Amino acid sequence: MRQDHLISARQLSRADVETVLDRAAEFDAGLDSGDPTLREHHPGEVLALAFFEPSTRTKMSFDAAMKRLGGRVVDMGGVDSSSVKKGESLADTVRVLEGYADGLVLRHPREGAATMAAEFVDVPVVNAGDGAGQHPSQTLLDLYTIRENAGLDDLTIGIIGDLKYGRTVHSLATALTEFDARMHFVSPESLRLPRSVRFDLHEAGAQLREHTDLDPVLSGLDVLYVTRIQRERFPDEDEYRKVAGQFRVDVDTLDAAADDLTVMHPLPRVDEIAPEVDETENATYFEQAQNGVPVRMALLDLLLTDE
Ligand code: NCD
Repeated sequence: MRQDHLISARQLSRADVETVLDRAAEFDAGLDSGDPTLREHHPGEVLALAFFEPSTRTKMSFDAAMKRLGGRVVDMGGVDSSSVKKGESLADTVRVLEGYADGLVLRHPREGAATMAAEFVDVPVVNAGDGAGQHPSQTLLDLYTIRENAGLDDLTIGIIGDLKYGRTVHSLATALTEFDARMHFVSPESLRLPRSVRFDLHEAGAQLREHTDLDPVLSGLDVLYVTRIQRERFPDEDEYRKVAGQFRVDVDTLDAAADDLTVMHPLPRVDEIAPEVDETENATYFEQAQNGVPVRMALLDLLLTDE
């Protein structure tokens, strides 16, 4: 992969994705067997984590990935305990962090924040979520999980929930155009894909259909990708309440689906998937979260290695 930064899934060709996923599979096997040479990949290198929004999986799996590769991590910590609280600009913060690290992982509530940060620094920047924009490293682990469970060829996927504000959806849909997947988008009318994303998907020749109900498409799906309603991005709490809880996947939902349906979710879930689904063979979201480590190891390895 010849990229300096990973800001958007639009940067990823099919070949790039395959390079990352193949490398991730090697790291995955190495993690399973406890291969001690994994630590020889990036000894002494430092990754800076700057998360201006809450995170559990993304931040901790980047942290674990860097350490598994033999590197170290410096973490800005919460916004409340950093100089952001004193009014420091994002540009100044990232310029300073660049001096402390060999790479920077950034999450920020503002769309475009990572694009802006990448203009100010020379070390590789990974966009770990910019508002309702993009979340491309999540997409790589989603694609890895799909490849392992359903295969990326001849894929029919349903993506349900908050398609308007869900950045994991925007990135995943963009990347899936490279694989000619058939995409069914299911949401309340008010949470449809943003016009700009739809436009980009059409431009890329995507095979997509939009629905307000899952039932008509469920039985034909290989993968159902469920998302959380992004409460924090709603300008109005009443608007959130109107749509909250409208779609919930439970064991009755699975009755109408293919036996081998792969159910995914980037997590955290609130109540979109009933806990009873966790016990089924279909539930793949905890495995998906775990895939964050080998996939981010692969991504970091490719970005941090000068060739
Ligand atoms: C997602 C995010 O932050 O966009 N979480 C994650 O990175 N796994 C999804 C979400 O918050 O709903």
